[in-house]
Amino acid sequence: MRHLIDFGDLPREEWDALYTRASQIMDAPEQFVDVCRGRVMASLFYEPSTRTNFSFQTAMLRLGGTVFGFADPNSSSTAKGETLKDTIKMVSGYADVVVMRTPWEGAARAAALYSHVPVVNAGDGGHMHPTQTMADLTTITRLLGKADGLSIGLCGDLKNGRTVHSLIKAMAKFQDVRFFLISPRELAVPDYMRVFLQENHMRFTEVTGLEAVIPQLDMLYMTRIQRERFVDPLEYERNKGVYVLTRRKLERAKKHMLVMHPLPRVDEITVDVDDDPRAVYFEQARYGMFARMALLADLANQPRLDRTPAVEIGVRPVCRNPRCITQTQPYLPPLVKQNGGVDCCAFCDGALE
Ligand code: CP
Repeated sequence: MRHLIDFGDLPREEWDALYTRASQIMDAPEQFVDVCRGRVMASLFYEPSTRTNFSFQTAMLRLGGTVFGFADPNSSSTAKGETLKDTIKMVSGYADVVVMRTPWEGAARAAALYSHVPVVNAGDGGHMHPTQTMADLTTITRLLGKADGLSIGLCGDLKNGRTVHSLIKAMAKFQDVRFFLISPRELAVPDYMRVFLQENHMRFTEVTGLEAVIPQLDMLYMTRIQRERFVDPLEYERNKGVYVLTRRKLERAKKHMLVMHPLPRVDEITVDVDDDPRAVYFEQARYGMFARMALLADLANQPRLDRTPAVEIGVRPVCRNPRCITQTQPYLPPLVKQNGGVDCCAFCDGALE
């Protein structure tokens, strides 16, 4: 059973095939209106969303399929205490593909253990967001003609920004990429991402200032400070509004630099930037729909599993990350992976006890 949990799991040739398919859909959408006829997508969004939720729904509808889900997670039986395992067992009996967003890091990987159909991670807490990366890569490739050889600025909350983590994983599949990681020190990329950058021999420079590096960039990826992820409200107050891209700052940027943003934006790009031809964040959101169509055309047409493989039963959470799915679903197996030679939680990449 194929799932999309972490972009790092996707071989480069599979991404190339998805991009080719997304381009074909963009160029001749009428040829794809029946690709998912009779297929059903479950849309499980336990966190707010505009782009990911609606673009997945419209993607499935444009392919001739149908969609079900809840508008409010409190109207599902999760609110009565149903486990993730039981929810997924049920939903994967009704649907051909499950798209899920949760505040719990590693939840999509956990769901995939029990699902009879493909699971797509539509964002798991501050961890990963692989289909946003599909939107990002589609935008870069369509507008710049390549994703190799780029200098990329990632700016904002790089600690909690799941889109940033997934994009770094993706860019490891391309040649000669250089990152400028622009963030306050307390919102720098998590250790597991720094280890990933080092293990993949990726060039990166961590800086706190945007203006000094902007002239070097081929693409600037702005992100918001993720208020909902802060345990300490004072930490948010210290960091909110720290980076604001304005027309004046753009004057020093390359003529063809792309300004991207996964959205939603709060205050980190002034509205007058929207009319600059380099600002492509609304196109980026639309490209995301076509990329998701390519993904659904593949995953929703896979044969379902009659039985899922047996899964070892855990006895207690072993992960120290308070936002890891193992904290609320203690039956999960204690899956371990290596990051930089150190054992880590295979669900959320967090440190183990
Ligand atoms: N980019 C993104 O994930 O947006 P939503 O939260 O609106 O889905």
